[in-house]
Amino acid sequence: MNVDLTTSPVEALKSLVIGIYEEGELTPTAKKIDKLTHGYLSNIIEKNMFQAKLGQTHFLFYPAETKIECLLLVGCGKPDTLSATGFRKIIIQAIKAIMTVKIKQFTFCLAEIEVKGRSLPWKVKQCVETVYQGVYQFDLFKTEKEPIYLKDISIHLAQNKQFDACKEALHQGIAISNGVILTKNLANTPSNICTPAFIAEQAKALAKQHEQISIHILEEKDMEKLGMGALLAVSQGSAQEAKFICLEYKNAKKSQAPIALIGKGITFDTGGNSLKSPDNMVGMKYDMCGAATVLGTFHAIAELKLSVNAVGIIAAVENMPGGTAYKPEDILTSLSGQTIEVISTDAEGRLVLADALTYCERYQPETVIDIATLTGAVVVALGTHATGMVSNYPPLANALLKAGEESHDRVWELPLWDEYQEQIKSPFADMANTGGRAAGSITAGCFLSRFAKKFHWAHLDVAGTAAMMMGTSERMATGRPVPLLVQYFLDQGK
Ligand code: BES
Ligand code: MN
Ligand code: ZN
Repeated sequence: MNVDLTTSPVEALKSLVIGIYEEGELTPTAKKIDKLTHGYLSNIIEKNMFQAKLGQTHFLFYPAETKIECLLLVGCGKPDTLSATGFRKIIIQAIKAIMTVKIKQFTFCLAEIEVKGRSLPWKVKQCVETVYQGVYQFDLFKTEKEPIYLKDISIHLAQNKQFDACKEALHQGIAISNGVILTKNLANTPSNICTPAFIAEQAKALAKQHEQISIHILEEKDMEKLGMGALLAVSQGSAQEAKFICLEYKNAKKSQAPIALIGKGITFDTGGNSLKSPDNMVGMKYDMCGAATVLGTFHAIAELKLSVNAVGIIAAVENMPGGTAYKPEDILTSLSGQTIEVISTDAEGRLVLADALTYCERYQPETVIDIATLTGAVVVALGTHATGMVSNYPPLANALLKAGEESHDRVWELPLWDEYQEQIKSPFADMANTGGRAAGSITAGCFLSRFAKKFHWAHLDVAGTAAMMMGTSERMATGRPVPLLVQYFLDQGK
């Protein structure tokens, strides 16, 4: 698909979508069309034939006195109250409607809608990302694919003012969307195909595609030599070899310490010998969304050629039960030397991340952000709207909160108070890998914090945001938190 900006006069457009407010107020483009058609739109609205409820859509075809073939009305709700979420809803509903008609090109006259506290370039960028989100399909494994007729989308700008800033926003929106698509495709691929070796191949392909990205991969024998006892324990029940993938993106001064991203890449999480129930196991192909996010974010920052140095670490492992698998009460020695008593083999994410965090020290990073579908508890706490965060460095937490607001890919901070550390005491080892039901997301964060003492660190728990798992027929990866992380890098590159 192709997305671009246009400043063509409304009179010249053939297929377009325009916004209408609930109380009958027309957006600027709607006003123009109303004039051209001698009150066609205001007549429809006066008679309450179209109520303009938020996200409501209605097609009008070949309105008289115009060159228009297809005019889509979309309701914008009450004027002056539209939120970022409302704006995205309008675009999603418009795309849904457009996908039902066999039209190749469509112009979006929606950047002119007021969104509280947001600029025109922001609206352009969100419009691009939401359009890509709306047309996304994952039909690789469907024998009958639904055709997509829509090929070209233009975002209409009523004036030339801020054109350059909008062009930049367009460019960013496209790069972020390409990153999001990469992340979604990898995440949606099932674990019989998306194995640790498969993720390693995808990472290699990404490094090949971008000159600034280099890669090296550790095999299990390398990890044994290093002493990655925590990661290897998780892998030992699986027929798939673990892969430890290290990417480097270099596009700033050598002296500039890198920002490191670490992704949890459990290609399937059965729970291991602490086996999950069948209901809880569906959706666990998504347990590598952190890894997919690292790749998607690297793709986007490379496409944008951001002047930053970044490291991407992916711990790709399958968590299986069985005779060779690790067990509750096993004691592991991590790469850091700290020992861990396994209480649940289903708390495997923190084990692989512990060794990845320690390994990361060799890059002397300024900042480390790990991304992981780590706990069911974060879904209980925050649902699917916000990513849970803990951090050992308030300025980093604040930067991520801000990037979340800007990208509308939001995070919420949980406390990492010392009191919670008590819950992961073990009578036999330096720590236990679980801390009971209470504050499960925080105690997981406490566990990780013990391996993140040498740098500024934030942990993003994306169990509720990286994929939609409500109901078996509605599962789908979201590509989050790629927009958040790209925004964070954009802010750092400034
Ligand atoms: N991958 C899961 C977390 C998860 C749950 C992600 C639901 C997405 C949706 C993780 O490995 C896990 O199993 N966590 C356990 C931890 C517990 C044993 C301390 C959990 O949340 O139940
Ligand atoms: Mn688990
Ligand atoms: Zn897991």
